[in-house]
Amino acid sequence: MPDLLVTGGAGFIGANFVHYWLREHHASRVVVLDALTYAGNLANLDAVRGDARFTFVHGDICTEGLAAGLLRDHALDTIVHFAAESHVDRSILGPDAFLRANITGTHELLKAARQVWLDEGRMPVERVRFHHVSTDEVYGSLGFDDPPFTETTPYAPNSPYSASKAASDHLVRAYHHTYGLPVTTSNCSNNYGPWHFPEKLIPLLIVNVLDGRTIPVYGDGRNVRDWLYVEDHARAIDAILGRGRVGEVYNVGGRAEAANIDIVRRVCALVDDRLRADAALRARFPQSPAATGGDATSLITFVADRPGHDRRYAIAPDKLAAETGWAPRETLATGLARTVDWYLAQEPWWRGIMDGSYRDWITTHYATRERVG
Ligand code: NAD
Ligand code: TYD
Repeated sequence: MPDLLVTGGAGFIGANFVHYWLREHHASRVVVLDALTYAGNLANLDAVRGDARFTFVHGDICTEGLAAGLLRDHALDTIVHFAAESHVDRSILGPDAFLRANITGTHELLKAARQVWLDEGRMPVERVRFHHVSTDEVYGSLGFDDPPFTETTPYAPNSPYSASKAASDHLVRAYHHTYGLPVTTSNCSNNYGPWHFPEKLIPLLIVNVLDGRTIPVYGDGRNVRDWLYVEDHARAIDAILGRGRVGEVYNVGGRAEAANIDIVRRVCALVDDRLRADAALRARFPQSPAATGGDATSLITFVADRPGHDRRYAIAPDKLAAETGWAPRETLATGLARTVDWYLAQEPWWRGIMDGSYRDWITTHYATRERVG
């Protein structure tokens, strides 16, 4: 059973992966390395912090020697690399942090893996794996009638975020071809689910509807994303670690394309339904339109578009399905319902974020976006 170094394990997908992994693999140890940036939150890992198989290390993947020391000291044979700056809007405002974390950080990890696993030979090479978690955004933007991205779609990243992730994908590939490092890469579509930081569309929507704040919809709201429930992503990585071929790239997606405005309407309807059915929820969220007989869609506000906003992403996960048998378990309907219910049940978690330093971002970024239409 592999023993894992999970980078970025205190973030959204990383934390979901750690919970999933420790639940599914009882004989496996997990060391999380996370810098606890604004997006990292130790509370995301509360449920596993007492587990003897789990260790948390507060540190930066860019720190030379840190990851190598962890691989040696904990005798780890697998890296699952999530750590990154991940929000497109922030990458437009300040690309430098993205180049540092996503490119330099990935390179430091590759150097560590090469040194400890290959040069020092501390593990049989057949046992080790560097799994790189990447995004479908490296492929650029699709037209409405284009076929979905496949693993052979040429790279055409359009934002500083996707360009930095594309660079990291190329470095991972190069370490395999040049040094023989056993790697796999997954390029996944948009995730949603528990512990999702409320700057991204779906959690932002839920908390804004509950607190009666406006819902900022960029441009005409017709941009399409292909949504995947986060636990299905964790299961896909597990499938790739177990049955994927070394040196290969796998696209991961839920075959669940939806226009942003449709996601907005669906989440509004879900929150309204929950409040209409439950007086206690109406009392807890008095600012939410449904608490006073209104409709959450009244909060929709069309705002100035994101610069360079990719029109459509869509993923064909056929290779992953054919080689590993993976298929998503959640549909958009079941996944969105589970997500809304999680946010209703975990108010202290997102209140902690909304009342902390993130409040500055809400006021500078969202509150100042120009309204259109
Ligand atoms: P996130 O922003 O929620 O979490 C990122 C985590 O990485 C945080 O815990 C943060 O503290 C940590 N981190 C950042 N820089 C670090 C550094 N220099 N050293 C150590 N830790 C650092 O991101 P997420 O949404 O969970 O995404 C995780 C990974 O999955 C990223 O690589 C992202 O590109 C990829 N991805 C995300 C999505 C999505 O929809 N969110 C889709 C496909 C791929
Ligand atoms: P986001 O969650 O930031 O993910 P990504 O940009 O990586 O796809 O955004 C998803 C879509 O929602 C994207 O087309 C931008 C749009 N969006 C809004 O319309 N309003 C918002 O407030 C946010 C955060 C995103």
